[in-house]
Amino acid sequence: MALLDNRVAFITGAARSQGRNHAVRLAREGADIIAFDICAPVFDDIGYPAPTPADLEETARLVRAEGREIITAIGDVRDQSALQAAVDAGVERFGRLDIVVANAAVSIWNRFWEMPEEEWTTTIDINLNGVWRTLTAAVPAIIAGGRGGSVIVVSSVHGIKASPGAAGYAAAKHGLAGLTKTAAIELGEYGIRVNSIHPGVVDTPMSRSSRAAEILSQYPRYADSYRWPLAGLNRCSVDDVSEAVLHLASDRSRAVTGSQMVLDLGLTAI
Ligand SMILES: NC(=O)c1ccc[n+]([C@@H]2O[C@H](COP(=O)([O-])OP(=O)(O)OC[C@H]3O[C@@H](n4cnc5c(N)ncnc54)[C@H](O)[C@@H]3O)[C@@H](O)[C@H]2O)c1
Repeated sequence: MALLDNRVAFITGAARSQGRNHAVRLAREGADIIAFDICAPVFDDIGYPAPTPADLEETARLVRAEGREIITAIGDVRDQSALQAAVDAGVERFGRLDIVVANAAVSIWNRFWEMPEEEWTTTIDINLNGVWRTLTAAVPAIIAGGRGGSVIVVSSVHGIKASPGAAGYAAAKHGLAGLTKTAAIELGEYGIRVNSIHPGVVDTPMSRSSRAAEILSQYPRYADSYRWPLAGLNRCSVDDVSEAVLHLASDRSRAVTGSQMVLDLGLTAI
């Protein structure tokens, strides 16, 4: 028997990178998937390319290749009705919801007092409010199932330590730790566990942002906040992160809730 046989997972930001890899990994363990992504740029000049609808279709192909079912929805985590429609369609199709991976986010680099308000509010609205909206859309369906469940909030090392050059990102990711701990208490009586993960640098388009490179070369002292002690590895892989997500999604972590799981090459230890 696989770890997630017959369970259903709702994953935001699933068109590529970490979100896609989580979808495929959870499907390999028996889960059916509801995959949600905007599949378009959320901001001009963000410093890295956006995924397309074809990327989300590729996620669907990979999930089906694992022998599981998937439904996809193109939408924005700033749009509560789009999230609710995706959850409702998934529950209608699969009959249940057990797991949420709130993964969609953006990374916009600038010094905080030079950041146009639109960059700050876009970051907070997607990375923090978008996770609240995702949980708000999905949690009632998990409660209604009466079987408990697992919510995984994707934060970052920058939900634990400073992120010079990306204060909006750090503020949102710190906020997620507060949401996670509080949600763990409010959902405990329903047997729903809520944990956040805090990856370090992960090998995806987001971590190759040209705006990050510009800021770090302009202000070299900021690099002090982006060093890690683990020699030989210069990034986490998407598989490293998916293993953590799988652990938290499955009953292997049945005693774990309200936690902040760090997978960061030791970055937060410095
Ligand atoms: N890459 C890293 O170094 C790193 C490190 C720590 C944490 N993280 C976090 O991991 C998660 C995944 O990031 P990634 O590295 O795979 O980046 P990515 O840019 O490849 O993937 C993010 C996905 O989220 C989607 N998305 C963005 N805004 C959206 C919106 N408004 N509505 C719906 N979907 C939206 C994007 O289209 C994209 O498919 C994010 O929460 C990110 O903050 C990344």
